[in-house]
Amino acid sequence: MIKLYVDFGGYSAIEKGNLIINRNNIINKEDFDSAELGEVVDIYSKRGKFLGRGFKNPNEVRIMTLKREELNENYIREKIIKANNYRVYELGYKNSYRMVYTQSDWLNGLVIDRFNDIATLQIFNFGIEKYRDVIAETLSELGIEHIYEKSTGRNRRRAGLKDIEGFLKGKKEETVITEGEAKFKVYVKQQKTGFFLDQRENRLLLERFIKEGYRVLDICCYTGGFSVHAALKGAYVVGVDLSKKALEVAEENMEINNIPKDRYEFIEGNAFKVMEELIEDGEKFDVVILDPPAFAQSKKDLKSALRGYHMLNRFGATLSNRYLITCSCSQPVEPDAFKALVIDACLKAKKWGKIIIQGSQAPDHPITSKGTEYLKCLFLRVDEI
Ligand SMILES: C[S@@+](CC[C@H](N)C(=O)[O-])C[C@H]1O[C@@H](n2cnc3c(N)ncnc32)[C@H](O)[C@@H]1O
Repeated sequence: MIKLYVDFGGYSAIEKGNLIINRNNIINKEDFDSAELGEVVDIYSKRGKFLGRGFKNPNEVRIMTLKREELNENYIREKIIKANNYRVYELGYKNSYRMVYTQSDWLNGLVIDRFNDIATLQIFNFGIEKYRDVIAETLSELGIEHIYEKSTGRNRRRAGLKDIEGFLKGKKEETVITEGEAKFKVYVKQQKTGFFLDQRENRLLLERFIKEGYRVLDICCYTGGFSVHAALKGAYVVGVDLSKKALEVAEENMEINNIPKDRYEFIEGNAFKVMEELIEDGEKFDVVILDPPAFAQSKKDLKSALRGYHMLNRFGATLSNRYLITCSCSQPVEPDAFKALVIDACLKAKKWGKIIIQGSQAPDHPITSKGTEYLKCLFLRVDEI
């Protein structure tokens, strides 16, 4: 087994629960370079203390375990079953949930979302690549016969792997899931893994703030996640999204929840432009929800991302005369920085923003280190100053 020694930066990263070790933090780089992609390697401190075991990737090691245990088919199977049982028997999830959330479940670089008998699969680790068959067999044991793989995007390219998108098994691509009283159609070929499971608790919480007849503006509404919950509580909803396809599904979702057509409207367009127009028209809403895509993928995008969030929140605060529910799924945006930004955006809109709830990602996306925490969802009461 190849032994790799890390410098203080690598050591302290592991101490903080970060299980991705950059090549820059490896002292014996020749040994790292000589290992095959996907090969099992051991990580040691400079002084020779065993720190963990993982798979070599092009520019990093993805640590899988902090024990000296075999990384083989059994390991992958057991960890998937354990992650699933935790969601089902402890958290109480039933048919739709994030079954595996990368390093939080000791499966660094593997994400599996379950939607009834369909799973979407994402692999961002060379070492896990060769275990597709075991993953499929394990999912079959758990009652999943359709697997849609969506191993695409930045994390995949970072690992030097080509994008893969298509059915690994079966061919079913749509299903209906439930979230509290709400029903949602999920098409696995849509954005992300088909549905934003991470907002589940925040969508359910929204219901507490809705009263019959409220006007709700759902910005970046996707397939109507927040919109459906608001409409079920008697609100009139205006949803805005750039994606025509997503809005078509949002309409379907309103229909399967028996929401009359005169209780909602979906606008296809750029959130910033639509909000500016609504402000010009003097429109006001009781609740404004802002759930944009990640404006910052990495630290280098941070400055422009913060400007974007500030503008969006200023518009949102201007349009709301009661509540503002505002989210950021950009991992590099720190929770405290986001709070300060939102409060400042409210002040610039001449609103007194009071944070009443600080939400995060749903419990099936457990946080084990800074790198695994990404979603911020603030509920604010906003009053005229
Ligand atoms: C994080 S998702 C929203 C998820 C949704 N709230 C839910 O609960 O399912 C972000 C959405 O923003 C949309 N989007 C991206 N850029 C946009 C823009 N400039 N204007 C409007 N929508 C945008 C995407 O199409 C996507 O549907």
